[in-house]
Amino acid sequence: MKKKLNILFVISEADPYIKVGGLGDIGGTLPIALKSLKTRNNTDYEIDVRVILPYHDQIKDKHVPTEWITNFRLMTNRGFKDVYLSRIVNSEVPIYLIDGNLIRNTKIYTDNPYRDLEKFAFFSIASLEVCKQLNWQPDILHSHDWHTALSVKSLRQRRARDTFFKKTRSLYTVHNLPYSGGNYPEILETYGIRPAFDSHIFSEMRTLPMAVALEASDAISTVSRTYAEEITTPEFGNLYENYLLANKQKITGIVNGIMMDQWNPATDTIIAQTYDENSLDDRIKNKLSMQEEFNLAVDPRMPLFAMVGRMSQQKGIDLCLDALRRMGELPWQAIILGTGEREIENNARSLANELSDRVRVEIRYDGVLARKLYAAGDMFLMPSRYEPCGIAQMISMLYGCIPIARATGGLKDTIIDASKKPKAYTGFLFDKANTWEAENAMRRALNEYQDQEAWRNLQLRAMNQDFSWEKQAWEYVKLYEKLLAQNKIKQVRIK
Ligand code: GLC
Repeated sequence: MKKKLNILFVISEADPYIKVGGLGDIGGTLPIALKSLKTRNNTDYEIDVRVILPYHDQIKDKHVPTEWITNFRLMTNRGFKDVYLSRIVNSEVPIYLIDGNLIRNTKIYTDNPYRDLEKFAFFSIASLEVCKQLNWQPDILHSHDWHTALSVKSLRQRRARDTFFKKTRSLYTVHNLPYSGGNYPEILETYGIRPAFDSHIFSEMRTLPMAVALEASDAISTVSRTYAEEITTPEFGNLYENYLLANKQKITGIVNGIMMDQWNPATDTIIAQTYDENSLDDRIKNKLSMQEEFNLAVDPRMPLFAMVGRMSQQKGIDLCLDALRRMGELPWQAIILGTGEREIENNARSLANELSDRVRVEIRYDGVLARKLYAAGDMFLMPSRYEPCGIAQMISMLYGCIPIARATGGLKDTIIDASKKPKAYTGFLFDKANTWEAENAMRRALNEYQDQEAWRNLQLRAMNQDFSWEKQAWEYVKLYEKLLAQNKIKQVRIK
């Protein structure tokens, strides 16, 4: 048997063309993983996945080679808007770029929610129209986060009257629930988008793009099983918990995969010394070289904490900074890399001043240094207040840098805690987002580090894991198929 699936993948970021955070990793890898799926249960698959991105100025600045496809006009309630469609040349899956006045002369995300919504509303509505221009009928619209939320509602409204989209089902993936998009009903009106109406959604929230897509989608997914559960509770639900709890059957959690060949310390050309499970002793050279580069005491047995990530409330960096302050009596060093909110940056900087003999802080985004830290660090700190999935913990494990993380979202799903499985654990988890629990987990790790053999076994277990996309990508296919099967049931009922 052969099955063909057309997937329209609408997203704001796709690495290596454009990336701000983890969303870009997914946009850059999941479509490729889907396309490369071939056979399951004696069925051959042909998955035609096409990505649509806004032609952000930052993509233009990179001079990515593109070819022009067509221009067309979008009819809105406030006149026509011109859309310019092009395509990236030689990408692994087709990547289309939507351009127009509202996409230009602005950053990827700004601190002006009105401007951002104008841009992403235009992008989302134009995305569906692109399918018509290409005369390519999608089976599934797979939309991601608030930026593309209005495409989901637009589909829902159109398919009642437009046979082209009659059979298209939508999956809306939530990567970060608190980012809801701006609340500007007039922008929705411009495109004839109706607000959400479900009584489980507070009336003031019904014009938020996030709310509109949660309700209008045929299915919702999140990027880990635990996060799928968490968002139905007040702590993580961001006031959507009533709706999400009442519609639990609509939600699936699928943990993100990574491209394993891109994150392999045996072949990594950036790190000072490559290594694998059989040459784990070589790993130490990476630590020594970092200690030297950062002018820290060069000492192979000195535990080195690494912390890499956006400095936002979400990431909980402050919890570990305070914990480090309280662990002054123990020997350790820390290198912290990241950028974000001013207050957190300053907090990190002052820790580096207070403990200038052992803490280094680099305020920037630096993919090269991040890799070196995965290879050099003994322990990786990820104290997130919430973490829908997270990727850094998976990479750090593959590099033998043991994660110390909060037991939330994807962190809980990908790290096995020492107290839970004494023979199989891969890291140290703590439950509550407070400094005491963070400190406790860090102390447990430092203690464990003293036992060199146990630590080595821990590293080997962490490095030996399989976080590849293939299995997870099939989970998406199963979900797509479930949605399309509902289609058939509906048709039978109508007959
Ligand atoms: C968001 C989430 C992160 C997740 C990523 C990709 O950035 O904060 O946890 O890994 O999306 O799904």
